Amino acid sequence: GTMTQEELKRVAAHRAVEMVESGMTLGLGTGSTAAHALDRLGELLRARELVGVEGVPTSLKTEAHAALVGIPMLPLGEAARIDLSIDGADEVDPELNLVKGRGGSLLREKMIEGSGGRFVVIVDESKLVPRLGCTGAVPVEVVPFGCAHTLGLIRKVFDGLPGFSARLRTVASKEGGGKVEVPFVTDNGNYIVEMFFEDGIHGDLNEISDRLLRITGVVEHGMFLGMATSVVVAKKDGTVVILH
Ligand code: A5P
Repeated sequence: GTMTQEELKRVAAHRAVEMVESGMTLGLGTGSTAAHALDRLGELLRARELVGVEGVPTSLKTEAHAALVGIPMLPLGEAARIDLSIDGADEVDPELNLVKGRGGSLLREKMIEGSGGRFVVIVDESKLVPRLGCTGAVPVEVVPFGCAHTLGLIRKVFDGLPGFSARLRTVASKEGGGKVEVPFVTDNGNYIVEMFFEDGIHGDLNEISDRLLRITGVVEHGMFLGMATSVVVAKKDGTVVILH
């Protein structure tokens, strides 16, 4: 029978957790796929099939989930090293470049997953794309001060590109009875600009990355270039392929 997308996320997550060894310090990812990895890690720790594992959480949500399933944690600055990070992604291109952060956690994810060690990405087949930016927003974390000005500078990077648009990510405010939109706020107290491309990002991704990061007011963006060491893909039929 065919598996649901949720089952495929679990299959990929469990395969990645097989790579975890006792004594490792792990980067703990954020999102619905990474959540399956947290559950599985908790099970293996409770069964004492894994011992001495510690995690560095990539978001407040993951920190709460890891605490609930009993994964010991430490802050990034106290980890001597990160041996292995496991996290989902929104998109994976043929070079294993990623879009991440549609859940809003890209900054801590990039700090932890880019800090050395292996970075194993877990996805179902639907996340594989020919080009980054094909299936939805590419997020950019910006400081709240002057965010409309920063948004203008981000737009200038893609000046005249047909089908390009960018906007501040908003959410319905709790006080406004669902009618008032307020900026989405990240775990770091920042805002998110969402960039949209009609047909994905053509051109030199590293150059685009550099141009975005040179904008004062931009904190980080959700393109994870050359960071993944492998990608565990759960295919529709439930089989797994590992891309390197
Ligand atoms: C969180 O900010 C993201 O980077 C997630 O890792 C990404 O959005 C994938 O999430 P899902 O596993 O829920 O698709």
